[in-house]
Amino acid sequence: TPEKEPVKAGDILVWAQGAKAGQEITPADLQAALKSDPPFIIAYPKNPENNVVKNQLATNTIMVMQLEPSSLSPETAKYAAQGIVAYSAICKHLGCTISQWKNNVWHCPCHGGEYDPRQGAKVVAGPVPGPVPQLPIKLEGNRIVATAGFLFKPGADV
Ligand code: FES
Repeated sequence: TPEKEPVKAGDILVWAQGAKAGQEITPADLQAALKSDPPFIIAYPKNPENNVVKNQLATNTIMVMQLEPSSLSPETAKYAAQGIVAYSAICKHLGCTISQWKNNVWHCPCHGGEYDPRQGAKVVAGPVPGPVPQLPIKLEGNRIVATAGFLFKPGADV
């Protein structure tokens, strides 16, 4: 079914949950999120060809956040736009959703896995086998658009 297709180039990132579920995420939304907890937004991809939000595949759950552009490693910056980064939200340990921000990095509430979004989601704490994949994005006006699928396979490494 179209709701289960993996994220691919051209997909637009939309709010996964809350009052704005299904609406396109804008840079202004990301700026506002920085003042809330967590300071990022959980997204799903929307296929612009049929307007289907691909929310029936767990590995399409994406974290989007605006960071200071100069804080990004060169490799991470390649796939970011104006400091906006997107990554798979599914923890590489046992597959929980990485829903928190602690110690200035992504934090998985299940066993404390932590990933630095400035450095390709390098693991900085916890029992996690490796980073979550980044989703290359660009800005098209106010839209955040994927320019490819995830850089490598999302989901728990089990
Ligand atoms: Fe994320 Fe265990 S599932 S740290």
